[in-house]
Amino acid sequence: MGTFYDRHTDVYDRALGGNIHVGYWDDEADESSMREATDRLTDLVAERLAPSEGQHLLDVGCGHGSTAARIIAHHAVKIIGISVSDYQVNLANSRPQPPDLPGEATFRLADAMENPFPDDTFDGAYAIESLMHMKDKAAALGHIARVLRPGGRLVIAEHGLEGELNGLDAARMADAYAYFKFSLSTDRYGELLREAGLRLVDHTDITRNVERCYDSMIRGWRDAARKGDGEAAGDWETAADLGEWFFCKVPQLRYGLLTAVRP
Ligand SMILES: C[S@@+](CC[C@H](N)C(=O)[O-])C[C@H]1O[C@@H](n2cnc3c(N)ncnc32)[C@H](O)[C@@H]1O
Repeated sequence: MGTFYDRHTDVYDRALGGNIHVGYWDDEADESSMREATDRLTDLVAERLAPSEGQHLLDVGCGHGSTAARIIAHHAVKIIGISVSDYQVNLANSRPQPPDLPGEATFRLADAMENPFPDDTFDGAYAIESLMHMKDKAAALGHIARVLRPGGRLVIAEHGLEGELNGLDAARMADAYAYFKFSLSTDRYGELLREAGLRLVDHTDITRNVERCYDSMIRGWRDAARKGDGEAAGDWETAADLGEWFFCKVPQLRYGLLTAVRP
């Protein structure tokens, strides 16, 4: 997984306007740019976390630090971000942090399924499009629950599959999972969170608000295929072919914002 993002981060970043997650548009009439829309998704996560001054937050699967950078520009919090990509952690730690920002952020290489932090370390945590990559979601969520203080919130922004796929689509989905290193489980998040000792307090389906970004992402991959060479070009063609089906034609694919609390 780390190698995947070592190699693919820059292309995702370009296609998604400087962030590595989907954008949020209010409606058809919303003319926000990709950057504005992807920043708005970060703002929606931060709103749900509602952090108070001085709080410590864990960014689970922090990408190249753009999300934490936006949160500390608006909130006086301390963020620690973890990623399994060396390349991303280096980018995140070298991102300039002007001294007059209200908050601060640091980043380190760590696997969320073996979360290295002591119990009760954080007042809040967020995971934007990172749990989809984790094979053992129960372990990752169990650790998040463990490192959260009582009353701490977890906000998840995530793709998921709702409902069954037919046999042909299920086989195709296996290819998409292998390529994107996904395993999606919207249906089961309530259960997984409960088993981890967290209480789901809100689940908002925002599929309609985010789907506009997929065309741009796929165009970005085709572009990378044209510019790339050898293996990388083939990789991006595969991503675009799979993505055109997976992101645009599978009605069971949903995107949700979930808020949970450690009692
Ligand atoms: C789609 S990117 C999202 C990045 C970031 N959350 C954002 O919104 O910009 C997925 C991220 O999950 C991270 N990730 C995947 N599996 C992980 C794991 N087991 N532990 C920690 N991070 C992981 C990747 O390294 C990458 O940073």
